[in-house]
Amino acid sequence: NVGRVLPAVLIAILLGGCSGVQSVLDPAGRDAEVLARLFWWMLGGAVILWVLMNGLLVYVSRIDTRPLSARAAEWLIIGGGIVFPTVVLAGLLSFALSEMPEQRAPGSGLTVSVTGESWWWRVEYLPDGAETPVVSANEIRLPVGRRSEITLNAHRVIHSFWIPALGGKTDMIPGRETRMSLEPTRAGEFRGQCAEFCGESHALMALGAVVMDEDAFAAWLEKEAAPAVPPESDAARRGQAVFNAEGCGACHAVRGTAASGRVGPDLTHVGGRVSLAAGILPMTAEALMRWIRDPEAIKPGAMMPGYDHLSDDDLSALAAYLEGLT
Ligand code: CUA
Repeated sequence: NVGRVLPAVLIAILLGGCSGVQSVLDPAGRDAEVLARLFWWMLGGAVILWVLMNGLLVYVSRIDTRPLSARAAEWLIIGGGIVFPTVVLAGLLSFALSEMPEQRAPGSGLTVSVTGESWWWRVEYLPDGAETPVVSANEIRLPVGRRSEITLNAHRVIHSFWIPALGGKTDMIPGRETRMSLEPTRAGEFRGQCAEFCGESHALMALGAVVMDEDAFAAWLEKEAAPAVPPESDAARRGQAVFNAEGCGACHAVRGTAASGRVGPDLTHVGGRVSLAAGILPMTAEALMRWIRDPEAIKPGAMMPGYDHLSDDDLSALAAYLEGLT
C-alpha cells in the first residue's frame, strides 16, 4: 500500500537527518552551528511566507464572486505582493549576512592536508613549525576548541570534503588547492562523506572524523608520527613476511620498514584507525581478510588488486600484522 508506506518512508528519511554522527542539525563545530542556525531561521521565514501567501490566496479565491474594491486590490498587490515579501526576505538576508564567518579567523597551529583519492582519503598533519607532515589516511582527527586549517586537493577526479556535524562542504579539485577551516566544539566521533560524484565507489567514500581533547590529540599525533611498532606475535611476524613477499610495500608505506609506496593509504598505524576501507568496514581481523582477499567485491573499481590466491592462513597472518600496527 503505497499510500501508507510512502509517508512512513518520507518521515524516516527526514528524521534520519536529525541526529547521529553525520547530521547538519546536530552541530559539533562552530561553522556547523552557524549553518544549523541559518537553516532554522530560513525555514521559519519560509513557513511564515508560505502561510501568509496561501492565506491571501484562500482569501482572494473566496471573495472573487463579489467585486473587490480598488482599495482592497491595491492593498493586496502592494502589501501582500511587494512590501511583505521584501521585508521578510530583506530580514532573512541581513540575518544571513550577519552570520557570515569573519574572513577568516586564522588557524591556531595545525594544518591538515586532505587529498581525495579513488576512493579513499590521504590525510597529512602539519603542526606549525614542523618540517615534514605526519601521513595518515581515511580518518581525520582534530583537537577540540581551536580552529585548524584544512587544505584540500584531489588526485585524478573531483571529490568534495564534507563532515556535516563540523562544517560546510568544500570541493576538492585536481590541480587546485582549496582551503577551509574547522573549529570543533565538542569531542566525539563523527562521519564525513564524499559529497561530489567521483566515480563507481563514490557512495563508499566515507571519512571518520574524531574530535579529541587537546592533550589526547597531542599524544595521538606524537604516536602517529612515530614509526611502526615491530610485530609482536608469531602470526604477525609471519604476516609481515607475507606482506613483503607479496610486494604490498610497492603501493603502501609502513614507516620504519622497507615498505614505502605512496600509491595507496599509508599503513603505519592502520590498526589504530576507527574503520577500514574509508569508513566501509570495521577495523577487525575478519574485515581485513575480506578486504585483502577481494577489494572489488567491497568497493567496485578500487585500485587495490585482490589476493584470493593467498591461503586462509596467510590472510589471517597478514590481518594479524596489520591489526597490530596501532
Ligand atoms: Cu569522492 Cu565522491
